[in-house]
Amino acid sequence: MKIFVTGGAGFIGSNFIRYMMKKYPDYKIVNYDKLTYAGNLDNLKDIADNPNYKFVQGDICDYDKVAENIKDVDTIINFAADSHVDRSIGHNPGDFIQTDVYGTFTLLEAMKNSKKPLERFIQISTDEVYGDIEAPNFSKEIDPLKPSSPYSASKAGGDLQVMAAYRTFDLPVLITRCTNNYGPYQYPEKLIPLFVTNLLEDEKVPLYDGGTQIRDWLYVDDHCSAIDLVLHKGALGEIYNVGANNDPEITNLEITKKAIEMCGKDESYIEPVEGIRPGHDQRYAVDVAKIKKLGWQAEVEFDEGIERTIKWYQDNKWWWEKIKSGEFKKYYDKQYKK
Ligand code: NAD
Ligand code: DAU
Repeated sequence: MKIFVTGGAGFIGSNFIRYMMKKYPDYKIVNYDKLTYAGNLDNLKDIADNPNYKFVQGDICDYDKVAENIKDVDTIINFAADSHVDRSIGHNPGDFIQTDVYGTFTLLEAMKNSKKPLERFIQISTDEVYGDIEAPNFSKEIDPLKPSSPYSASKAGGDLQVMAAYRTFDLPVLITRCTNNYGPYQYPEKLIPLFVTNLLEDEKVPLYDGGTQIRDWLYVDDHCSAIDLVLHKGALGEIYNVGANNDPEITNLEITKKAIEMCGKDESYIEPVEGIRPGHDQRYAVDVAKIKKLGWQAEVEFDEGIERTIKWYQDNKWWWEKIKSGEFKKYYDKQYKK
């Protein structure tokens, strides 16, 4: 099988490529990535020389380049996105529409017009498209979309393009909607890597709105196994929720305390911050019965996954110190030191 992975130099895409190359050594993978601030070839240093792996720098909005590069592939898996909620609010919202909506549309157009028909297109979407969900409810795949942020609205727009391509052009598409991932190689703008690396640098951690919010944290390898299953067994035109169903549910404050404890600090390192994320969703939770029926199960318990993750950031300063001294510094100052 030859897979065209977009956004493979980011957090989840790079973990997915590593996962697939290990599990299916004869598969060929083209990693097509624009290398925005979030794309980092260091994430895949260890497999860069594998003859079944090829990197192409390109934008998913560039129709001609996409068309040229999908000529002989079987499947497209679209991870490419602008992915950070805070950046979609106070930084560069237009880029989200461009990549997450227009870029997704461009990939579908190129697939539709390809001489060799492709077997599958998997859109890597998010539980955020359902919006805030009050306990004890869980979002189902058939629920209406109620995105809260410019990021999640742009992801919802991408999903609608995908489903329209199924209905109108009969393209063989599927969508996954996963909850919050964590693990190695996550860009340090997101909660867990930001807080852990700040603490390792003896910096405070900016905890929003009291830290009462709930996310359903899933270790990134479990997301990869879900995509693998959907790739091989998912039904065309279907949407699959993916999530850990953390029980009990976990608040941001609990995660913060865990990071503080593991980094040998105390709670004076918490910097309470209010109103920096307007429209802040309180809780996400998805019903995962459908993908479980297909044969998927999360394997990594949160306690184990978070310890593994924090240890990874402790052991891999080479990876994040480089990032934090570059583009990130400007972003951080604008976001947190206004
Ligand atoms: P990320 O920000 O770490 O990586 C995004 C990657 O896409 C980067 O390598 C970037 O260079 C690339 N990219 C951006 N714009 C591009 C363009 N126009 N053309 C080509 N490449 C482009 O994101 P992530 O956290 O790895 O998320 C990957 C996907 O999974 C996204 O679609 C996101 O919406 C979705 N998702 C993320 C999470 C999460 O918790 N991180 C959860 C559910 C779904
Ligand atoms: O639910 C899936 C989504 O999870 C993905 O679609 C997104 O791409 C991904 O970024 C993530 O979105 P969140 O907004 O949930 O993740 P983030 O790590 O930015 O924030 C998690 C929670 O932590 C949220 O309630 C806001 C809070 N937070 C975040 C940051 C960056 C803080 O309290 N302080 C911070 O500095």
